[in-house]
Amino acid sequence: MKRITIAIDGLSSCGKSSTAKKVSEHLGYPYIDTGAMYRAATLYFLQNNISSDDQTAVTAALDNIQIGFHRSEAMTNDVYLNGVNIESEIRKMYVSEKVSLFSAIPAVRHLLVAQQQKMGENGGIVMDGRDIGTVVFPKAELKIYLTASPEVRAQRRHLELVEKGENVGLEEIAENLRLRDFNDMNRAESPLIKAEDAVLIDNSEMTFDEQVQLTIDLANQQIYAG
Ligand code: DC
Repeated sequence: MKRITIAIDGLSSCGKSSTAKKVSEHLGYPYIDTGAMYRAATLYFLQNNISSDDQTAVTAALDNIQIGFHRSEAMTNDVYLNGVNIESEIRKMYVSEKVSLFSAIPAVRHLLVAQQQKMGENGGIVMDGRDIGTVVFPKAELKIYLTASPEVRAQRRHLELVEKGENVGLEEIAENLRLRDFNDMNRAESPLIKAEDAVLIDNSEMTFDEQVQLTIDLANQQIYAG
């Protein structure tokens, strides 16, 4: 059976990761959350007081950053920074507030894109992010561009953070999403854009299961294509 590459891109908090995770489980493919890699690098810069304005310091620090994914006891694919599990730390607001500034820096992108290409070099992978279908795997057999209204995305993210016990207001989240959307879509280096051959899915009015099933159906069309 053909093992395809599935690239899922889209705006912040539109359900990319949860969809990608479910689809990867269904197909038995590994799943790579590239946003977690940018968040991990951001955490390193913040922990070491390196400013996103100081590109020389950012570039020099890249050699000290090792990012990896390992299965946790709960069978989640957790992200590690230099051997430490940072899965929950990187989801906090202070990281969200800075991540799109660091991820706009070309040297950061070049390093992480090369690592992502290596992880998916043999196909049979689901990867989500902002530039997977355009830059990381422009030849991916299936490209999905997910979107949802800003209100729906802010509400979903709010619920997620509240469930994790973080005390953040809906308006603060909406503002962070607006800012990240703007930065991600307007940066000079590989901005978020829909690849021409990506399937656009607006999930504002869809249930999670509907969206997962649609993605699996699209994947199967590619897997069983002649
Ligand atoms: O998917 P996420 O919200 O966890 O991603 C966090 C940030 O990382 C996002 O604001 C932009 C950046 N990012 C990126 O620039 N390229 C990717 N492939 C994935 C994420």
